[in-house]
Amino acid sequence: MELCLIVAVDEKNAIGKDNRLLCRLSGDMKNFKELTTGHPVIMGRKTFDSLPKGALPNRVNIVLTRDEEKIFDNAISCNSIDEVMNLRVIKNCEKCFVIGGQEIYKHFFDIADKIYLTSIRHTFEDADAFFPEIDIDYWRINSVSDEFKADEKNEYPYFFAVYERIR
Ligand SMILES: NC(=O)c1ccc[n+]([C@@H]2O[C@H](COP(=O)([O-])OP(=O)(O)OC[C@H]3O[C@@H](n4cnc5c(N)ncnc54)[C@H](OP(=O)(O)O)[C@@H]3O)[C@@H](O)[C@H]2O)c1
Repeated sequence: MELCLIVAVDEKNAIGKDNRLLCRLSGDMKNFKELTTGHPVIMGRKTFDSLPKGALPNRVNIVLTRDEEKIFDNAISCNSIDEVMNLRVIKNCEKCFVIGGQEIYKHFFDIADKIYLTSIRHTFEDADAFFPEIDIDYWRINSVSDEFKADEKNEYPYFFAVYERIR
């Protein structure tokens, strides 16, 4: 099983503010959907709450919460990282994606195999959620896309990068 993190960061590694994304870039949303569809996605309860239409379709949604009573529409509730890693759907999958937010990325960062990063060419003021620093002693860049220019569907320029753990 390949454990992947997928994230969109700004130039200072910010990922969110007030439990919302910093921006919605159409090209990034499309890339996210293409990469994650058909694979289990793992997220924190706050990220689940922030999804505009609830659970993501055509993906097994797994939500981490410390509240043992909590149930979610169309999603599996887990109370620990171990519980997630022991789910049959995770053990038996070819690939799964950790989709945020800050707390959940931190928990999975040291055990992830890959990072699918969208780099937004902008610095957002007052962000309150961040992605861990990617240390090049531990990660190598596998691929980098060309930069996509801002347009009517994408407020800021951005590019994609894929990192692979080297140790
Ligand atoms: N840019 C991106 O790619 C991206 C992607 C996703 C999210 N985000 C942003 O990230 C921000 C949210 O991040 P966040 O850190 O505040 O929230 P989060 O990571 O989405 O969720 C945190 C919650 O997860 C649960 N949790 C955390 N650790 C746990 C553990 N070890 N065991 C069981 N449950 C655990 C807790 O839920 P309970 O409180 O229910 O116990 C905790 O409050 C938002 O701004 C969102 O828009 C950005």
